[in-house]
Amino acid sequence: MIEFERVSKTYPGSAAPAVEEFSHTVGEGRTTVFVGPSGCGKTTLLRMVNRMVEPTSGSVVVRGRDVRDTDPVALRRSIGYVMQHSGLMPHRTVADNIADIARLAGASKSEARGRAAELMELVNLDPSLGRRYPAELSGGQAQRVGVARGLVNNPDILIMDEPFGAVDPVVRRNLQQEVLSLRDRLNTTILLVTHDIDEAFLLGHEVVILGERAAVQQADTPATIIAHPANDAVREFTGAGGRVLHVQERGGDRLVVDAAGNIKGVLR
Ligand SMILES: Nc1ncnc2c1ncn2[C@@H]1O[C@H](COP(=O)(O)OP(=O)(O)OP(=O)(O)O)[C@@H](O)[C@H]1O
Ligand SMILES: [Mg+2]
Repeated sequence: MIEFERVSKTYPGSAAPAVEEFSHTVGEGRTTVFVGPSGCGKTTLLRMVNRMVEPTSGSVVVRGRDVRDTDPVALRRSIGYVMQHSGLMPHRTVADNIADIARLAGASKSEARGRAAELMELVNLDPSLGRRYPAELSGGQAQRVGVARGLVNNPDILIMDEPFGAVDPVVRRNLQQEVLSLRDRLNTTILLVTHDIDEAFLLGHEVVILGERAAVQQADTPATIIAHPANDAVREFTGAGGRVLHVQERGGDRLVVDAAGNIKGVLR
């Protein structure tokens, strides 16, 4: 669905590449999470998918087509993008921030307004918030608006860049549950990046652990990574802070449990 073929990126003016020879195929209808430390190239990889960043070498193939052969504007409209820092327009209301995305894709004013209302319901935003401006929202509310914008045009591909970065742990938990439920209700291909390994294991059908310059440390299901870390770096990353994770079967569910016996997530 999304194929990265030996992509590298060196930004103008920098000596070292941000991403070096990265290859990975993101499966259709599945949720794949790229996880790695700050600066390892996650955003760079994500923005290659919708041509916000052009690789220095290598290629990205989306829906069977090299993105270089697709019109960037059409490509961006066909892929939902939730940006790292919500990306809301400060002088547009919440409802307009969502509706504008539908308008750009050709919806009439009333269709776009209807769509915005539907999406706000989908991400659990109270309709009364539609009249507010982004500065009048909490961090978690703003991130929900960002997610709603990503979903407006019913994209078959959704890319999300640390969508829950700016919120407290409780709200984060709620938003993660909402993405899980969206993931299971819609047949969207989701590519999400985060630096939070617990979030990666919770949300990903597949998790790709990245090191410096987006070097792939391990790409597999959460259960396999937890049971069989590929190297010391992965072992350290997945066990950071003494949270040595393992999988336990309880009542038919496969739970991710830390060393203290706390449940960190459910594998699906
Ligand atoms: N526009 C740019 N120009 C020059 N260097 C850049 C640019 N964007 C990113 N970089 C550099 O490329 C590297 C990778 O950046 P990127 O934003 O992809 O990392 P990231 O994994 O998303 O980090 P974070 O978790 O902090 O968001 C970093 O060293 C960063 O400084
Ligand atoms: Mg980033």
